[in-house]
Amino acid sequence: MNWKQAFTSSIGKKLVMALTGVFLILFLIVHCYVNALVFLEWFGPLGRGYKAYEGAAHFLGSNPLTRIAEIGLLAGIILHIVQGLMLFFDNKTKRPVDYNVHPGNKSSKWYSRSMGLLGTLILLFLVLHLYHFWVPNRYQQLVTGHEKDLYLLMELTFKDLWVVIVYILGCISLAYHLLHGFWSAFQTLGLSTKKYTGLLRCVGTVYSIVIPLIFIAMPLSFYLGLLPDAETARAATQTLAH
Ligand code: HEM
Repeated sequence: MNWKQAFTSSIGKKLVMALTGVFLILFLIVHCYVNALVFLEWFGPLGRGYKAYEGAAHFLGSNPLTRIAEIGLLAGIILHIVQGLMLFFDNKTKRPVDYNVHPGNKSSKWYSRSMGLLGTLILLFLVLHLYHFWVPNRYQQLVTGHEKDLYLLMELTFKDLWVVIVYILGCISLAYHLLHGFWSAFQTLGLSTKKYTGLLRCVGTVYSIVIPLIFIAMPLSFYLGLLPDAETARAATQTLAH
């Protein structure tokens, strides 16, 4: 397969979707882990979660390698969306007449047939999400040379109920998108051999449920006041041992 075929043939498009999908799956693990450090507030002295999270966020934010990774991430997201849209329209033109009979769950799950819709909902969530966090943080870094207090930014962002609801809906869409996408990506890559099918299905299901649930816990915990406010947590870090 040459470069042109990778982007134009049906199997090429599926392969690009699978490779960018696996890349995004790996990104979500790191992103979820770093943000979940705020929950260390529940395990240990006051300020522990704030310190761990701000430390990790600062390490990543001030690292030039992160800027390079961000370009790769952006390219991965755009490729995933463009190829996904092309596959969606390919399937539509190949089967222009809608079937009268919908076999429903007997042949496939609703979320497997709604990947385009779920992907669009995630994209809408992502635009709002980057506007909330990534844009203001990069802007402040560019203008002042200092990053934002991201723990405080989370606290302020998740004060609005509608924002929390949009984040929860975004994460639920992500869960269903992953329930099909995780498995589908590994199948396209030929890794779903007889021996590993069961294991892959199990890991895919656990991943698709656990990661979005941890993400949901973040806006919900700030909104419900289950995490200390940034000012209290920051002040407490002064008394923590280094
Ligand atoms: C719901 C809980 C979430 C929280 C609290 C959260 C928090 C953050 C924060 C604070 C940043 C800015 C990092 C920086 O500027 O250095 C960020 C960036 C980003 N987030 Fe999230 N995030 C969440 C969920 C998600 C989800 C579900 C996705 C993907 C579907 C996602 C994708 C991204 C991307 C692509 C970036 C920009 C790249 C980066 O800075 O790492 N986030 N997020």
